[in-house]
Amino acid sequence: MVLSTGYNRVRTAVFISGKGSNLKSLIKFSKNKKSPISINFVISNTSKAKGLNYAELFKIKKKVLNFKNKKLCEKKLLFILKKNNIEMICLAGFMKILSKNFIEKFKGRILNIHPSLLPKYKGLNTHKRVLKNKDKYSGCTVHFVNSRLDSGKIILQKKVKISKKETMNSLAKKILAQEHKLYPKAILKIFNL
Ligand code: GAR
Repeated sequence: MVLSTGYNRVRTAVFISGKGSNLKSLIKFSKNKKSPISINFVISNTSKAKGLNYAELFKIKKKVLNFKNKKLCEKKLLFILKKNNIEMICLAGFMKILSKNFIEKFKGRILNIHPSLLPKYKGLNTHKRVLKNKDKYSGCTVHFVNSRLDSGKIILQKKVKISKKETMNSLAKKILAQEHKLYPKAILKIFNL
């Protein structure tokens, strides 16, 4: 990925909706000497997102936009991102769907992490569906975002084995632990590092 930047590292915003454990791992990664990115903004669609605490903790600017009026929120969002010279976006448990128009403005510069082996199990409730189908494996995927849900070009995937006693919770936990490693790896990969 080639990004124009007057800064040393690619200025990145992370979008969250919940716990923010991926945000935390990305922040940790960004502090690494080898990281090509810095995390300069956190966006959440809800003030209830626990992950917002990481923005506080690491003194990263943050903004809550509820997305009830998507068009207006995205307009505000674009203004904020531009003002803060944000060049790349990492979706990390962000549960709102961005419009085609927004995605177009950041074309090729929005990444997402999804808790399944895409193209299998796009959308919500992945673990429930995986267990219902008695799959032997699941995993996680980091991909570029395009205008179709969970359908952009895949950057990296990690497979995990499903045990006989697997529950939705145990599977979610197992996959999340892999997500924390996969997202940084995928970022290194797109920068050819
Ligand atoms: C993660 O498992 C992520 O893959 C998933 O939400 C969780 C967020 O956890 N994302 C999606 O389901 C997006 N469709 P976190 O808030 O602790 O990073």
